[in-house]
Amino acid sequence: MSSSLVTVSYIGATILFILSLGGLSNPETAKRGNWYGIIGMAIAVLATVFGWRVVGAGEIPIVYGASGLVIIILAMVIGGAVGLYAAKTVQMTQMPELVAIMHSLVGFAACAIGFASYIDTSTVFATHAEHVIHLVEIYVGILIGAVTFTGSVVAFGKLSGRIDGKPLLLPARHWINLAGLIVVIIFGKFFLGAETIAGGMFPLIVMTIISLAFGVHMVMAIGGADMPVVISMLNSYSGWAAAATGFMLSNDLLIVVGALVGSSGAILSYIMCRAMNRNFISVIAGGFGTTSTSSSSAAAAPAGDVKSISAAETAEMLSEGKSVIIVPGYGMAVAQAQHAVFEMTKILREKGVNVRFGIHPVAGRMPGHMNVLLAEAKVPYDIVCEMDELNDDFPATDVAMVIGANDIVNPAAQDDPGSPIAGMPVLEVWKAKHSIVMKRSMASGYAGIDNPLFYKDNNLMLFGDAKKMLDEVVATLKAK
Ligand code: TAP
Repeated sequence: MSSSLVTVSYIGATILFILSLGGLSNPETAKRGNWYGIIGMAIAVLATVFGWRVVGAGEIPIVYGASGLVIIILAMVIGGAVGLYAAKTVQMTQMPELVAIMHSLVGFAACAIGFASYIDTSTVFATHAEHVIHLVEIYVGILIGAVTFTGSVVAFGKLSGRIDGKPLLLPARHWINLAGLIVVIIFGKFFLGAETIAGGMFPLIVMTIISLAFGVHMVMAIGGADMPVVISMLNSYSGWAAAATGFMLSNDLLIVVGALVGSSGAILSYIMCRAMNRNFISVIAGGFGTTSTSSSSAAAAPAGDVKSISAAETAEMLSEGKSVIIVPGYGMAVAQAQHAVFEMTKILREKGVNVRFGIHPVAGRMPGHMNVLLAEAKVPYDIVCEMDELNDDFPATDVAMVIGANDIVNPAAQDDPGSPIAGMPVLEVWKAKHSIVMKRSMASGYAGIDNPLFYKDNNLMLFGDAKKMLDEVVATLKAK
């Protein structure tokens, strides 16, 4: 494939990636968006593996020689098989962990390519300035890659429960980070000034070790409640690491794709920070999610009596209401109760009840988690509303039904300034005539705090697994 055909393929792939991102912004077009991405990536891989690039007056294959091709194809088969296995076996609820560990691979690749580019003497630079720019690309690429690599590994550990979710707050941690940054800048100067590859290797290795340690330190300091933002932030870093790799390899497509991932990850982090009423800088600075504040630790133990309700009584209340808002959360995903939810919604709508869904931006364990599950169960999109669209409608709602959600309906976010989730916007289900919370026990949610909603006069608890309880509700509704 000639170099001009490669350029055309790269432009085509870039357009498809942009269309893919556009498609993914809406559940109705998400499937199409995925296909654009798949086709774009297939074109990009084929053009890179079988394409040629311009060197001096002539052209050479991007992947050099038959042995190069064999290695690439072998790597693609092994990597593809691992990816296919992971995609088939991973539970929806483990998706953020999978995403985190995938980001770590991008970071690792950026580091490995950085070192390989540095020791590769085959590239001849026309001017000294070009050589210096290449060295800066290597230094910055390895720096971002190393932070992404260890940061993502720690995020994976925290999300999968292998590492404690509590923030690790070293004394003078900001000073430690600042000292690391200063050393990285000074060693960057040594690296650029080095006369030989061996001479530049020492500062490069020192910087890599500091960056690896910084990645661990940065994510260890971030509390469980901020992990969603961290995942999307690491997504953004992995994009910038890929873009830096694109500069090192002079691959325009990798630069563009890296920038797309980097900026969309940054925008998503910003949106999530807004949804949790958190400041992006304070998330990165860490320390959030410690339940050590006086009022919140006091709230950690159940603080009152609750009234329970049976599935049959729930069915009765729902069918008698005119307006019902369902608030799904992580427990619906764990119980895989979305199909039962759809079944219940269908029957209630047939009975003339106005049923809508209220989706919190960080419900579940990944962005869009609830939308994906409800779409899979074929719940019509027009009754699935964002939190802001229906939060004012709760006072006019007969029953607000919370299915496996906890933090996102916690009134302490508004009432208790000492709560770890203080200021986070929540769905105000307690303002409905009645709220029913479906969960298995009085256990806390992700943020590890008690929920005063459970003790409100107008609240009822339907204890049990969400799928089992909904099946019972559906059975009663059908029998009526
Ligand atoms: P949570 O606050 O985690 O509450 C989920 C509740 O579901 C738990 O209290 C649990 O209570 C219940 N549950 C678990 N399994 C169940 C089952 N089989 N049947 C019925 N109930 C079950 O979830 P949420 O309200 O969706 O809030 C999300 C939280 O996760 C927020 O704190 C958010 O910051 C965080 N987070 C979000 C994301 C993204 S991007 N969405 C990523 C990471 C973290 P029982 O054990 O008593 O049943």
